[in-house]
Amino acid sequence: MRLILDVWRQDDAASPGRFERYEVAEATPEMSLLELLDMLNAQLVTEGRDPIAFDHDCREGICGSCGVMIDGRPHGPVDSTPACLQRVRNYAAGDIVTIEPFRAGAFPVIRDLVVDRSSLDRIITAGGYISTATNAAPEALTLPVNKHQAEAAMDHAACIGCGACVAACPNGAAQLFAGAKVAHLAELPQGQVERYERVRSMVTTMEDMFGSCTNYGECVPACPAGIELDVIAHLNRDFRRAVIHERRGEQPRRDDVPWLARLRSGPWLQSDPDDRPTDDRDADA
Ligand code: SF4
Ligand code: FES
Repeated sequence: MRLILDVWRQDDAASPGRFERYEVAEATPEMSLLELLDMLNAQLVTEGRDPIAFDHDCREGICGSCGVMIDGRPHGPVDSTPACLQRVRNYAAGDIVTIEPFRAGAFPVIRDLVVDRSSLDRIITAGGYISTATNAAPEALTLPVNKHQAEAAMDHAACIGCGACVAACPNGAAQLFAGAKVAHLAELPQGQVERYERVRSMVTTMEDMFGSCTNYGECVPACPAGIELDVIAHLNRDFRRAVIHERRGEQPRRDDVPWLARLRSGPWLQSDPDDRPTDDRDADA
């Protein structure tokens, strides 16, 4: 099957880009669009021309690195599907497929279809982690998490950090991404330690680089991980609480978090039996 590809070519961040037209004569319906680019690159190399630069890694919807605009939509024509899983079967012979990099102020083009998405990493380094006591793993049953919260945390953790939500948003906002990260940790006991510090720091960092959310909702159909709009409400709610806590001078101290205090005093944290509290050693005797 013959397809025409209009692909964005750009030598580096400082150079102007342009679309170039190519033809792939032997595409097959089961191929992914990344495999179509592979096939085109093999042709270009054979002809002595520069291959098209594009990001990819897992090719199974996990890593989030393959984000490109296909026919003007982040990741391509099929909703909730990353570029690496979009198939040629969605096109008819002779169709024109337009492929260009994500368009967002926070994602400068590095070359061809590759953009710099380290602005998302900066949001994560601002607070997308937890503090925990290291040493032996705590007994899972000491930290019960109800089923509803465990499932919600898993749903929010599905975000693969692709940046399609930013590319889809007319404002270039990253609220769906940041909301997924904040909501994921806020559902779990481990996430309570830095809960308010986290949301303050992540939102402040995000606002340095991205636009503001005005509830267009364009991010949701573009998201290949099925992250829902309610994570943005979660983000805003936690941010508001963080501001109120701060105004009242009520930032929770780490020692105020009851589950962490329980972990710290538990015998599972001491690798040397003589470090355990005296009561426990007496009980063994
Ligand atoms: S929220 Fe969805 S679209 Fe945005 S970075 Fe995460 S997986 Fe990608
Ligand atoms: S290549 Fe990993 S999600 Fe597409």
